[in-house]
Amino acid sequence: MPRPVPRHANHRLLPALALWFATAGSTAAAPPDATSTVHPELWPLARSAGLFDTATERRITALLASMSLEEKVGQVVQADIGAIEPDDLRRFALGSVLAGGDSGVHRDDRAPSPEWLGLMREFHAVAVEQRPGHVPIPLLIGIDAVHGHNNMIGSVIFPHNIGLGAAHDPELVRRIGSATAAMVAATGIDWTFAPTLAAPHDVRWGRTYEGYAADPALVRQYAQAMVEGLQGAPGLAHPLQAGHIAATAKHFLGDGATLYGEDEGDSELSEADLVRDHAQGYVGAIRAGVMTVMASFSSWNGQKMHGNRALLTTVLKGRMGFDGFVIGDWNGHAQVPGCSKERCPAAINAGLDMYMAPQSYQALYRNLIEEVRTGEVPAARLDDAVRRILRVKFRLGLFETDRPFEGRLELLRSDEQRALGREAVRKSLVLLKNDGVLPIRGSARVVVSGPQAGDFSAQLGGWTVSWQGADTRRSDFPNAESVARGIRRAVVAQGGAIIDPTDDLDTLKPDVAVIIFGEKPYAEMLGDIKLPLFNNRAGLREMELFRRHGIPVVAVFLSGRPLWVSQEINASNAFVAAWLPGTEGGGIADILVGDANGKPRFDFTGSLPYPWPRAATLPPYQQPTDAREAAFPAGYGLSYAHGGATPPLSEALDGR
Ligand code: BGC
Ligand code: BGC
Repeated sequence: MPRPVPRHANHRLLPALALWFATAGSTAAAPPDATSTVHPELWPLARSAGLFDTATERRITALLASMSLEEKVGQVVQADIGAIEPDDLRRFALGSVLAGGDSGVHRDDRAPSPEWLGLMREFHAVAVEQRPGHVPIPLLIGIDAVHGHNNMIGSVIFPHNIGLGAAHDPELVRRIGSATAAMVAATGIDWTFAPTLAAPHDVRWGRTYEGYAADPALVRQYAQAMVEGLQGAPGLAHPLQAGHIAATAKHFLGDGATLYGEDEGDSELSEADLVRDHAQGYVGAIRAGVMTVMASFSSWNGQKMHGNRALLTTVLKGRMGFDGFVIGDWNGHAQVPGCSKERCPAAINAGLDMYMAPQSYQALYRNLIEEVRTGEVPAARLDDAVRRILRVKFRLGLFETDRPFEGRLELLRSDEQRALGREAVRKSLVLLKNDGVLPIRGSARVVVSGPQAGDFSAQLGGWTVSWQGADTRRSDFPNAESVARGIRRAVVAQGGAIIDPTDDLDTLKPDVAVIIFGEKPYAEMLGDIKLPLFNNRAGLREMELFRRHGIPVVAVFLSGRPLWVSQEINASNAFVAAWLPGTEGGGIADILVGDANGKPRFDFTGSLPYPWPRAATLPPYQQPTDAREAAFPAGYGLSYAHGGATPPLSEALDGR
């Protein structure tokens, strides 16, 4: 579906336009009123699967009638475990708590899983205890389990979504969803803030790797598969009892469309483009019965999503038939004009159902009670928000007393999970070049080196142990296999030898050098980059060194996005995009290292989820189908069965 006007063209005008807006009077700069510009008939018709049934609604009605205003307001407020203790729930009967990216148990990111389980049990117990004047309502506990249960040290970590996108395998995604759910349920947690359904359109965005692909059809298919994996089949009664948890489709809407890939930025695009390229994942998710949707930090045409009634209410809950609840993002409500962390009637009035108010929950709770009393927030709107939250709690099975998966901590690292992670790694790899050096003969003499060869954090990426994932250590995942170690083990197992890169290469004459290089870990905000796309040439220098000794080079690139590496591609004999594979690095060796006769043990099946940039100085693409700036288009990927020559790429910054 090509766009009529290439977005690069618009792009060049935008700085000028932005300047014009900034200098024009306040009337000219006022954001357009989105309410008047939304046309519901342009949006897909959908209907939440399996969330609404009359028996449950009757129970909700009865429960609502017994709740005080304070208890209702409590349900729509979520605090972070870095700022709330179980005991605080006795004064503030909140509906939910979350563990944010940097919020471990008692501020310890490396708390072992039994401690997580213990704390979660305490939270759950306080919420449902019998006390005078208190209606016991189970707590919903959320966490960012976005590539496995990634806050748990020692667990199996799956590839980040970009790698799953490369796999083009919805069944794999469903299995990863259900494995992740079981891991989360085992620790007493009920809800993950996943999947991200962004269709990233500019790789400068530091969250590119959290999206599956730029192709809306794939995002839609994956959305359905991941939600069904996490929650179980739509309509399944009490999924929590079967080891499933609530999912979150995020971030609604247009998070992947922001200008220059700026995190929390503004998506300037027409309603038709928004629907076609960015809303499709939500259709898949809603049809799979997704229980929650997270509002985006970003804006659409100048209006913050947390205050966008037209999209949150008219479109999402109306036209798209979403019966679950809308959760805010981390203080996202504070960015709505006129709002602060402590106060934002505009957000709930726009359709937000639960505020993510990590530290400011107490003031927000008090202010919201006042706002309902004065009518600034209509009581009916509050009731609707609470109803939606209770609906999720009932449907999920939180009101049932048994939690059969809770405590099964062995699920965090079972042989089955490991095998699944390794399969996912194999399927995620994309071969961009191979002059015949791959597969490495099992009997070969191999050097494994490169700036990221010993860098465990680089293969796990952000959202691992901590928010940015910057200081993940080998010892956090003692049973994991690094990419380098996986290759060394496979070579030795097939009868070959490993040569130390510091040895005399001319005497020892290794057959091949595997160079592992790539990006340092990052997450939202800190991962945003400007042009040029990638200017760390440490990997290149090593490749050149081996080439000078006449040793062929296999490049393994660890990254959260495609980047400008034309020189590295030219300097290598084979080039593999390995994304952020997680703990099961052995999956890379499965494909790279053949048997003793040089026959592949597994073949490459992955292909690019985004076009690969050929220039350092231009945004690589602004739309999925614009391949002009690509060195390799989306969908590209070689294999052993289907090889091909890769002509040298231009090394000029502009790719020409
Ligand atoms: C991110 C969300 C995440 C939330 C909770 C936010 O900053 O944008 O994706 O779910 O924090 O950690
Ligand atoms: C939290 C993350 C959150 C981020 C948003 C961090 O301190 O740990 O969960 O997404 O702040 O700014």
